[in-house]
Amino acid sequence: MNGAMQLLGVAKSYGEGAARRPVLEGLDLDIPAGRLTVIIGPSGCGKSTLVRLLAGFERPTRGSVTLDGRPVGGADRRRLVVFQESALFPWMNVADNVAYGPRARGVRPQGWRPQAAALLERVGLRAFAGRYPSQLSGGMQRRAELARALVNEPEVMILDEPFRGLDAMTRELMHAYYADLFEETRRTQCFVTTDIDEAVFLADRLVVMSHAPMRVREVIEVDLPRPRRAADVLASDRANDIKMRALTLLHEEAMRAFAGGSRAAGDFLAAYARRRAPAVPTPETRA
Ligand SMILES: Nc1ncnc2c1ncn2[C@@H]1O[C@H](COP(=O)(O)OP(=O)(O)O)[C@@H](O)[C@H]1O
Ligand SMILES: [Mg+2]
Repeated sequence: MNGAMQLLGVAKSYGEGAARRPVLEGLDLDIPAGRLTVIIGPSGCGKSTLVRLLAGFERPTRGSVTLDGRPVGGADRRRLVVFQESALFPWMNVADNVAYGPRARGVRPQGWRPQAAALLERVGLRAFAGRYPSQLSGGMQRRAELARALVNEPEVMILDEPFRGLDAMTRELMHAYYADLFEETRRTQCFVTTDIDEAVFLADRLVVMSHAPMRVREVIEVDLPRPRRAADVLASDRANDIKMRALTLLHEEAMRAFAGGSRAAGDFLAAYARRRAPAVPTPETRA
């Protein structure tokens, strides 16, 4: 199966001279073909930098980024990115937005029309095909965005906090749509988030990142059956164990960031301390 990405010894620094700061250093990471890999790490740890390297928008300072063993060049429709910010063209209706990629490549309508229609149906937007992005809710815009990316049949989809900013109910709905699309297509996914519940619900593999310079702290296999239902995952002991393990690691990383003087990490720490408060086992109570 195609669509395996690999990073080996990747470093990325910004700035010059004394201001030079490594965001990534010695990062080794596998994104296996046909699986849904979720990357989670504290705010500011370098996730979006990683996304730009995977997409080919930027080059690493050192090391290699490959797709199926071949070095990643520039941006390429085999590796498509969905960002939190909407990339829909406001002057095109939903149908035209979804058809944009294949049309721009000169694919004949019979080559994309049936699939575009099927995708609109799958994401619940068939009745909204003629609407413009400004006439859609936030969740509908995100769904249109997913359809617009998938119609290009990318080998790898890279999503950078795509559902951030949506309300909780809409988010849950998005998770269901996105998980369905993945289970149907089984295309390689690299999904970046800071939300632990989102991460555990979606992931085949959960990659917990360290604070800067960002490295892989731990890879956790999320061996929960699919299709998943939110209620089942909530009630699952295994899901809860995974969540607690990831939170413990994230908490350690946030502590290190905090000790290093990061303001964002302080906020992160406070947020996670609140979430951990009632039920998190400490190493003592766990045993
Ligand atoms: N183009 C850039 N120039 C300078 N610093 C950058 C640039 N992009 C990101 N950084 C820095 O790299 C660090 C990681 O940023 P980012 O990859 O956006 O983290 P995340 O997505 O995990 O929040 C931050 O400290 C940020 O300020
Ligand atoms: Mg980011």
